Amino acid sequence: MERTLAIIKPDGVQKRLTGEILRRIEGVGLTVKSLRMLQLDRATAGRFYAVHRERPFYHSLIEYMTSGPVVVIALEGPNAVTRYRTLIGNTNPDNADEGTIRRLYGDSIERNVVHGSDSGENGIIETSFFFSTSELEMITNGSSD
Ligand code: RTP
Ligand code: MG
Repeated sequence: MERTLAIIKPDGVQKRLTGEILRRIEGVGLTVKSLRMLQLDRATAGRFYAVHRERPFYHSLIEYMTSGPVVVIALEGPNAVTRYRTLIGNTNPDNADEGTIRRLYGDSIERNVVHGSDSGENGIIETSFFFSTSELEMITNGSSD
């Protein structure tokens, strides 16, 4: 059993893709444990993407991620990290497999609609970044597979 954090980024919310992305997530059998819409401030976005602080795209990434509301979603299921990353596709929509969320809806390597944790360890760290223990332990649909 794994946890992973999905984020519908500002372009995804702006394009009214929230329902469509949730439908795809639930369609592959991942369980939504908790979710919330929020506006990231620069400090919070910077802490969340601290691993990229030295990268050339960092400031642009923070600008993008704070440009409008996002939807943060805690997911759970067997092999959830890989299953969700398969659903979203490569970081660059041009390199993402046909039918993936980024291929279908992403505009560029930066404006790529969604985030996904990249390991089981980061899935736990990132879901805990946005959700309390009690929010993550709610019984949702009674099944996690
Ligand atoms: P994410 O963390 O958002 O799920 O994306 P990822 O693992 O597929 O890619 P990562 O390397 O972690 O990059 C984080 C986000 O930064 C933006 N980015 N821009 N301009 C660029 O070359 C560039 N590279 C990455 C994207 O929004 C990417 O998702
Ligand atoms: Mg990443």
